[in-house]
Amino acid sequence: MKILVTGGTGYIGSHTIVELINAGFDVCTIDNFDNSYPNVLDNLKKITGKTIEFDEVDIRDKYALKKYFSEKPDIEAVIHFAANKAVGESVKFPLKYYENNVGGTINLLLAMQKADINNIVFSSSCTVYGEAQPPVDENTAIPIANSPYGNTKQICEEILSDQSDAVNLHVVALRYFNPVGAHESALIGELPIGIPNNLVPFITQTAIGKRESLTVFGNDYPTPDGTNIRDYIHVVDLAIAHVAAIKYLLNKKYSSAFSVFNLGTGKGNSVLEVIKTFEAVSGQKLAYQIGSRRAGDVVQTYAACNKAWNELGWKTERSLEDSMRTAWKWEQHLKNSEKK
Ligand SMILES: NC(=O)c1ccc[n+]([C@@H]2O[C@H](COP(=O)([O-])OP(=O)(O)OC[C@H]3O[C@@H](n4cnc5c(N)ncnc54)[C@H](O)[C@@H]3O)[C@@H](O)[C@H]2O)c1
Repeated sequence: MKILVTGGTGYIGSHTIVELINAGFDVCTIDNFDNSYPNVLDNLKKITGKTIEFDEVDIRDKYALKKYFSEKPDIEAVIHFAANKAVGESVKFPLKYYENNVGGTINLLLAMQKADINNIVFSSSCTVYGEAQPPVDENTAIPIANSPYGNTKQICEEILSDQSDAVNLHVVALRYFNPVGAHESALIGELPIGIPNNLVPFITQTAIGKRESLTVFGNDYPTPDGTNIRDYIHVVDLAIAHVAAIKYLLNKKYSSAFSVFNLGTGKGNSVLEVIKTFEAVSGQKLAYQIGSRRAGDVVQTYAACNKAWNELGWKTERSLEDSMRTAWKWEQHLKNSEKK
């Protein structure tokens, strides 16, 4: 069974390729290296022992996508990661996000339809829930998006749902909470280009000396220690969920053509808890200070994951300690490879 992974040299895509291969699937992947590097393919080979079938394809190019599928008649399903993901950047450059995330998804669906490929797993996000009161389940009403990025995820879900009503297409949309950590080998991980938007890369970059100190945005929120709460999911657990989603589609376990699942741990951790956990597992004292609240930050969110537990038969197995330990190992690996 061959699975196409779009955006396969990115953070979550690369970890998912490892888990698909571990589960016995054949994999092919495309990327345009907008936010990743070709050496990820070498590292995937080191981890899996397999040469990854790769083509440099930009999903904004619908002709290239159609040609790609016409040359790969054995693809059974697609996992679609390729997108831009920085909320702040999407506010400055909305058209870049609509063109890539929405336009790219439409191109992919057109090419899949032409090639008669009927199964897709889509990377969605908990941002679609906005300020909803946790634990957030999949029936929570979707509010108006608070960024163009969030809107692209909402629009893509709607397009996928409409397309699954209209043609023979089966969709699993996975709403990720906060992916963190890295592969145990420290050969693949998150590679934020520029100043990281997310807490954990900021923590590890501060600890390694790339950043002077970390600012905690507000400690006066209505949470036990006053800092924001998020549901941090280890990227390997997240990757394994994609294998479960592919099996769910290929084994026709679904009851409707469009299914949506939350992927999180079901538990929230505050910013200060994350910092303390990082300090405990790394033995590093982190330089941080408390700053004012950052516009647009949701007070707290974490997932209700019962649907994924029951229907995908999947549950997270890795702890916040595992996430911090592997994120730290990855940051040290990056520093060592810079020296070479
Ligand atoms: N990381 C998170 O915090 C998070 C949370 C929720 C949802 N998501 C979604 O998960 C998916 C993967 O995220 P990630 O963290 O692995 O991001 P990433 O940037 O590491 O990976 C995305 C990959 O897609 C590629 N890509 C982008 N545009 C492309 C195009 N036009 N053609 C071909 N390749 C293209 C990039 O080069 C990159 O390798 C994205 O859709 C993202 O929106 C991520």
